[in-house]
Amino acid sequence: MGNVDKTEKRLIRALRGEVMARPPVWLMRQAGRYLPEYRATRARANGFLNLCYTPELAIEVTLQPIRRYGFDAAILFSDILVVPDAIGADVSFVEGEGPKLVPIRDRATIDALNLDNLHEHLDPVYQTLGGLREQLPSDVTLIGFAGAPWTLAAYMIEGGGSKDYQIARQFARTEPQAFAVLIDKLVDAITAYLERQVDAGAEVLQIFDSWAGVLAPDERERWCFNPMATIVQRLRLSRPDAPVIVFPRGVGAAYVDAARLIGSQGISLDTSIDPAWAAAAIDPDHSVCLQGNLDPVALLAGGQGMIDCMDRIREAFQSRAHIFNLGHGIVPQVPPEHVTALMEHLKSWEE
Ligand code: CP3
Repeated sequence: MGNVDKTEKRLIRALRGEVMARPPVWLMRQAGRYLPEYRATRARANGFLNLCYTPELAIEVTLQPIRRYGFDAAILFSDILVVPDAIGADVSFVEGEGPKLVPIRDRATIDALNLDNLHEHLDPVYQTLGGLREQLPSDVTLIGFAGAPWTLAAYMIEGGGSKDYQIARQFARTEPQAFAVLIDKLVDAITAYLERQVDAGAEVLQIFDSWAGVLAPDERERWCFNPMATIVQRLRLSRPDAPVIVFPRGVGAAYVDAARLIGSQGISLDTSIDPAWAAAAIDPDHSVCLQGNLDPVALLAGGQGMIDCMDRIREAFQSRAHIFNLGHGIVPQVPPEHVTALMEHLKSWEE
């Protein structure tokens, strides 16, 4: 692809379509419990959400993996559930049990959700981004993010995490109109939130649809691809300089439809996707940058097995714009030195 400015940061160059011998790299959940320095900062914060809402601490944990490993991008330290929290879902994190929300089961509760305090509530996140832009090395890209409408709605209806989001999916099938109102509110909230993140300093945005894979084919377009497409279209108009990566985790062969229908600059592949299949089947015009997709368990296991998995990914994406990443987040049990080995191997591909 032409017109690539080599002075631009690696991650941005890949999202503009440049193919690089050594792709840019960052890892989902690169800041987190596998790092002793994260656990130390976490212990100083009064609970996980407080860590997200305290700019000084959120900046510190965002920078920790950059200092240690020199990734090409830093992802804002926060959580996807701050948006439901900001519009009235009252989120809490119970130690060892994961997130809890006040469950939504009727139209009246959906109507009562409101975006009036969105930016006020999320102001600490914008402050975190501003501070990060000042403190990050000049060659590191700052990534902002949000959860996708379907995944946020699933947590809000269910009242927390779930294996298959049966209650949320039943609600979507029995009360599609009320569910559509919820999805539309989330599209508006997420778009406004991401726009402000760009204004505060985010250079690239990622939208996590972590539970896209539980939807049946007849629900996928309506509740997952179309709402994400709306957000991407609006951002292309309002913040044209900030490329968007979407992560419709678990949709299998429908990744082909996702790339076509959503129209983002990047798409993140989950662990189940064969990289050689993806390189050939997704967006044959090569206008979308593919991100992924080392198995987080290959990183956990480490050794030559991990190196072999990395080499297969490299070979598959040789002729495509690619961002090296995992197929899902780092698990807390990962020994930090396995990430060092990953980075050493990746840097050996340097042109
Ligand atoms: O380094 C980074 O990637 C940035 C920070 C980040 C976190 N969560 C921090 C976090 C990001 C991008 C997220 C996104 C997120 N949060 C997703 C989408 C990505 C995915 O994993 O599919 C989802 C589904 C959530 C919701 C969430 N947050 C759950 C289910 C949990 C509890 C489970 C767990 O892993 O403990 C969280 C908590 C959370 N978010 C932690 C971190 C570092 C662990 C909290 C702790 O320190 O106790």
